[in-house]
Amino acid sequence: MTKEIYLTGDRPTGKLHIGHYIGSLKNRVEMQNSGNYDSFVMIADTQAFTDNARDPEKIRNSLTEVALDYLAVGLDPKKTTIFVQSQIKGLFELTEYYMNLVSVARLQRNPTVKAEIQQKGFGESVPVGFFTYPVSQAADITIFRAQKVPAGDDQEPMIEQARELVRSFNSAYHTDTLVEPEGVFPPNGLGRIPGIDGNAKMSKSLGNAIYLSDDEDAVAKKVKQMYTDPKHIRVEDPGHVEGNVVFTYLDIFDPDKKHVADLKDRYMHGGLGDMKLKKHLIDVLENELKPIRERWQMFAQDIPAVLQMLKNGSDHANEVAEATMTKVRRAIGVNYFDGLK
Ligand code: TRP
Repeated sequence: MTKEIYLTGDRPTGKLHIGHYIGSLKNRVEMQNSGNYDSFVMIADTQAFTDNARDPEKIRNSLTEVALDYLAVGLDPKKTTIFVQSQIKGLFELTEYYMNLVSVARLQRNPTVKAEIQQKGFGESVPVGFFTYPVSQAADITIFRAQKVPAGDDQEPMIEQARELVRSFNSAYHTDTLVEPEGVFPPNGLGRIPGIDGNAKMSKSLGNAIYLSDDEDAVAKKVKQMYTDPKHIRVEDPGHVEGNVVFTYLDIFDPDKKHVADLKDRYMHGGLGDMKLKKHLIDVLENELKPIRERWQMFAQDIPAVLQMLKNGSDHANEVAEATMTKVRRAIGVNYFDGLK
């Protein structure tokens, strides 16, 4: 049985939070453990440079943090190739060839990049590397011949771009070397969980995230700050469940659905206080996060071993990428010196 290949990755621009865990990391670990996939997980440092070129220190620090997050949630270097984008030289080469197969007009239509350019206030000063990162991301995916790309909904346009580039490449160079990838997206409601303040997006810049490496006190403090129902003042008051972040999180994290339904009922009828409810959420989160945090701290004691793991993964990823690049060079016809000594 030949296994399918899956590839995905994260930009190292900060620690990963429970939104990443629910929307993506948990699913990767399941795919890894299913035994049905050849798994590749990439720390996308090259892509992080597209909007952090002047802050290499941040990328360098985040690289080890993200690697620790991966190990802590259960990605296992024996089963998953965990590697670093910048170390795969073939990616730069393939990206350069792809650049000629896509137009500026096509890139300008990418809704995710468009939104990011606006959020970051780039305007006309958008770095060329940032504007073209979907091209480099197409190289990330296709150099490993990935059939499946588990990612957030916002990555859909990148995967579509990669499919188009594969078709253009294969048709321009009369080959079937490259494989069209498919996205695997999170089920409804798990793709994006709100921040503790109720903002639809959990993010570092909004200061509303719970991190996988947060200690117990930090988690408890964040839950206590959580947005509930501003009109639910006294315990006896009837409260709202909809838009109440504590319930949104309980729906996601509490395995006892019947108990959650019961709590909702009591909350809506009055008689359940926010403090008691939050105490329960803290317990539920601790159940999930404690083992992750303990593993995080254990792996963090040996950073050289973490770096060695990344190097081994990158070495293996390079071999796989080079096998594709040999075919790519041959297909394009730049293999001028084949057969020479
Ligand atoms: N764009 C992704 C993000 O911002 C990171 C990424 C880079 C990626 N290359 C990839 C994701 C290839 C999936 C496949 O999180």
